[in-house]
Amino acid sequence: MPEGDAEELAERASARARGGKRAKDSELFEVVEEVFDYPTLMALYKLLNAGVIGRMHGAVASGKEARIYWAEDPSGGDLAVKIFLTVASEFRRGRLIYMEGDPRFRRLRGDVRKLVELWCSKEFRNLKRALEAGVRVPRPIARRGNVLVMEFIGVPGVRGKPAPLLKDVELEDPEGAFRTLRSYIELLYRGAKLVHADLSEYNVMVRGGELILIDFGSAVDVGHPMALEFLRRDIRNIFSYFSRLGVDTGDPDEFYSELSASPAG
Ligand SMILES: Nc1ncnc2c1ncn2[C@@H]1O[C@H](COP(=O)(O)OP(=O)(O)O)[C@@H](O)[C@H]1O
Ligand SMILES: [Mg+2]
Repeated sequence: MPEGDAEELAERASARARGGKRAKDSELFEVVEEVFDYPTLMALYKLLNAGVIGRMHGAVASGKEARIYWAEDPSGGDLAVKIFLTVASEFRRGRLIYMEGDPRFRRLRGDVRKLVELWCSKEFRNLKRALEAGVRVPRPIARRGNVLVMEFIGVPGVRGKPAPLLKDVELEDPEGAFRTLRSYIELLYRGAKLVHADLSEYNVMVRGGELILIDFGSAVDVGHPMALEFLRRDIRNIFSYFSRLGVDTGDPDEFYSELSASPAG
């Protein structure tokens, strides 16, 4: 029951707020402790009520800044839910104890949350812009607070299992994949007016013959003062990866020069 799940989570969160202790073996406990602070729970609850999310499953990936969960929409379709951590757990354990009671840092928690929500909404809008320009990205579905809901990029036939990353895949057609990614960089820059800024074999998913760009939180508008620097780095990352695979990529800096010379294309 979706509502049951949310209520249970809310109950656990409020128990935590009251100082209650929970059994460590529960997955929910870990989830509530590390990710689902009260505003996050409320964001999830609203997404449940709005009929966006039907059911939350476990985390499929966990990084420094965000966790990705497999979820289902109300009719059982797959969803990916990216929850941005409002306070990095290391940071919470290490420093927050010293800062929380200090009147100079009273506003810290709220400010960090605002920043993280901005980051989340930026990723949502970047994904929309990329999609509209024809770049293959997970389709963004909804965003509330620090929670981003998008299309789940999974292994066909295996529910809840994310497709592998480019770095872990042996490509059937590396030349074709290289051309596709090069065209995505160009479409992003000229069409979406964006630079990914964290593009590498770590942020490309591979499903069958399809390449899907992910992780658009750090993408910037071409008007950003460092956009060209990021563009050059993205291009070098992709070119050098495929060059290592034996693809004749040509000179990355030449491609960069062509692209940056006429952004409007
Ligand atoms: N839409 C998605 N569908 C399925 N898995 C995803 C999706 N987006 C991300 N993932 C998985 O989660 C991992 C982390 O996501 P990412 O957006 O790259 O966040 P991070 O900032 O932690 O790198 C990815 O490497 C991928 O395995
Ligand atoms: Mg990533």
